[in-house]
Amino acid sequence: MKSELLLLIAVSLCVHSKPLSGTAKRTFNKLLLISFDGFRWNYDEDVDTPNMDALVKEGVKAKYITPPMITMTSPSHFTTITGRWIEDHGVVHNMMFNSTSLLKLTHKATLKRSEWWDNGALPLWITAQNQGLKTASFFYPGGGANYSGQAVDRSLVEAFDHPDDNETEWRQNIDTVMDWFTKEDFDFVTLYYGEPDNVGHMVGPETNERRKIIAQIDRTIGYLREAIQKNSLANSLNVIITSDHGMTTIKKNPDVKEIKLSEYMNFLTLTHFDLLDYGGFGMIRPRKGQEQAVYDALKNAHPNLTVYKKEEIPENFHFAKNSRIQDIVLIGDLGFNLNSRFIFYVNKGDHGFSNEEMDMKTIFRAFGPDFKKNYLSEPFNSISIYPLMCKLLGVKPAPNNGSLSDTEGMLLENFDACGRIHISVSLLTIMTLLSSLI
Ligand SMILES: *[C@@H]1O[C@H](CO)[C@@H](O)[C@H](O)[C@H]1NC(C)=O
Ligand SMILES: *[C@@H]1O[C@H](CO)[C@@H](O)[C@H](O)[C@H]1NC(C)=O
Ligand SMILES: *[C@@H]1O[C@H](CO)[C@@H](O)[C@H](O)[C@H]1NC(C)=O
Ligand SMILES: *[C@@H]1O[C@H](CO)[C@@H](O)[C@H](O)[C@H]1NC(C)=O
Ligand SMILES: *[C@@H]1O[C@H](CO)[C@@H](O)[C@H](O)[C@H]1NC(C)=O
Ligand SMILES: [Zn+2]
Repeated sequence: MKSELLLLIAVSLCVHSKPLSGTAKRTFNKLLLISFDGFRWNYDEDVDTPNMDALVKEGVKAKYITPPMITMTSPSHFTTITGRWIEDHGVVHNMMFNSTSLLKLTHKATLKRSEWWDNGALPLWITAQNQGLKTASFFYPGGGANYSGQAVDRSLVEAFDHPDDNETEWRQNIDTVMDWFTKEDFDFVTLYYGEPDNVGHMVGPETNERRKIIAQIDRTIGYLREAIQKNSLANSLNVIITSDHGMTTIKKNPDVKEIKLSEYMNFLTLTHFDLLDYGGFGMIRPRKGQEQAVYDALKNAHPNLTVYKKEEIPENFHFAKNSRIQDIVLIGDLGFNLNSRFIFYVNKGDHGFSNEEMDMKTIFRAFGPDFKKNYLSEPFNSISIYPLMCKLLGVKPAPNNGSLSDTEGMLLENFDACGRIHISVSLLTIMTLLSSLI
């Protein structure tokens, strides 16, 4: 009797955040994952961000999080949504390429190319759908592809000429997502914004333009908070705000000697294919028999260039074991872009550098009915967002490389208890029924 009373009290404690359905099945709250591309971990420190500050009190903030090596948009976003290292999920670059045929496609051209994304690791959209949930992707990288023949229930893909910074459109997209949750009962939605990455590249991270776009993002987060209230979702929607990598200022002549690889080797005679001129990470496929020649030419060429043969890539980078990784891999020291034959002075800021560099670290914020308030999390690897999302949604995770122990401390203490109690309640019902029959 006493334990039943305790149970009743516990149930009523849980009920305010988790409506008990008539059945024994526990209901889980909805989840919105938002990514602001290229949001360096400390971008909110030199701008007034009242809404992000309020979220610190209302929810969870990680000091910073560490993206996977390779700190690029598609590889990192796909690690977040699959919980898999890049060598496992196979999206090893923003560009889709074939080092035999020399095909290269830009990031936007890959967005509907399933053969680039669908390499065996199932993203959370598909795993959740297979377990009965309804999911959607609003511009999130990978959301436009099919996986084992399955499409995401609702998917919008960015057009080639999509502007990154239109604040009116940003708000409309939030309205759309709110409708998906309220009118169409979606359980899990991913929403992507191309800023502050775009500004960070164009003018560099240490600029007023970057501070202005952070203020715009903060207003958008304020709009989101209001929209959640207006749509009565405050008690049933969890929100995670994160990003894929940071940004650093590119070092230029005459401050440093820039890296231009053609100064050290002959591309024409030594290389078959290269992926360079794309930030701090690059790959080369030498011509047959020229592997050692390329390696020798570059190994000690420039003090700020690190060269690996594929088999030398450190294990803890977790990207070597994939056939898309080429024989020679290059990484520049922070701020040293890997230029091949010319130096294109387009980008003032860039990424792709080691994920150990503070400038490559990114943000993690979360709030909603299942999160603790005013909780400062220690840094963790972005790969551990995946098991957290599965837990929040009540989805049995696909095989993954994340650690729930990194992230579950930010959930309310009674998160699991509420789940157990629902089962106990059904047991109780059965027992009561049984005893009334006897
Ligand atoms: C790459 O191109 C080669 C030559 O055209 C082709 O044989 C191969 O199948 C392609 N690889 C992939 C993964 O598409
Ligand atoms: C995904 O599959 C659907 C149904 O088979 C098809 O209509 C659609 O074109 C496919 N999309 C991609 C990106 O391959
Ligand atoms: C911004 O988006 C709104 C709503 O989609 C649109 O009406 C407006 O023309 C856009 N502004 C610019 C400068 O593209
Ligand atoms: C570039 O290399 C020099 C010489 O080894 C070193 O002193 C400097 O710290 C390096 N720069 C970066 C950003 O690592
Ligand atoms: C990552 O997870 C996959 C799937 O469980 C597994 O096959 C792989 O070995 C893991 N990678 C590491 C480095 O543990
Ligand atoms: Zn990015």
